[in-house]
Amino acid sequence: MGFGTVEVSKVGRMNPFYQKIFERAKPFLRTRKNIIHTKIALRYAFKLLGEEKGDEGVVIPATLLHDVGWKALPEHLQLTAFGPNPSNPKLVRVHEREGAKIARSILEGLNYSPKKAKEICRIVQGHDSRKRPISRNDRIVKDADKLSRYSRKGLAIDLDRFRIPRRKYLLYLEGIIDQWFLTPTGKEIAKKEILLRKSDLSV
Ligand SMILES: [Fe+2]
Ligand SMILES: [Fe+2]
Repeated sequence: MGFGTVEVSKVGRMNPFYQKIFERAKPFLRTRKNIIHTKIALRYAFKLLGEEKGDEGVVIPATLLHDVGWKALPEHLQLTAFGPNPSNPKLVRVHEREGAKIARSILEGLNYSPKKAKEICRIVQGHDSRKRPISRNDRIVKDADKLSRYSRKGLAIDLDRFRIPRRKYLLYLEGIIDQWFLTPTGKEIAKKEILLRKSDLSV
């Protein structure tokens, strides 16, 4: 399977092998607007890989697969698991564990490098609950995932979902950047995005 060459700056021309992974992930992502979320996170993952050291062959599949486990939970329960005030945060562990199982079967089905697949599954298994990253690749996946919330579309989805006033939520997102992001590039992008979202407000 070829996954060695890819145009890192152009998500639109993603390596066909990653595209295959995404196609197999999609049935599991059709919940909680996760296809949109995954595409946004993917865009940031490529951006981060342009500045931070990491193995694209781990980072990109892990980003594509990180949230496949939500499908194991009904939507009304998913909404209690995450966000600024989760009432049932233990469910986060369920989507991580189920996600790692699904990711493993997708990667095995595509005969992916067992070594890379192992790291990818470990990343998926702790992508939300584990605060300390296991590798450089994990740092990038975690930051790409969080950056999704700072994008225009991601923000709009969260505001609708959590019914929080926009200004209040932007202040929350701005306040947690330094403690939340793990890479200097992630912090930098998040700060830029916040400025953009604030200027969206005045339009
Ligand atoms: Fe997640
Ligand atoms: Fe996510």
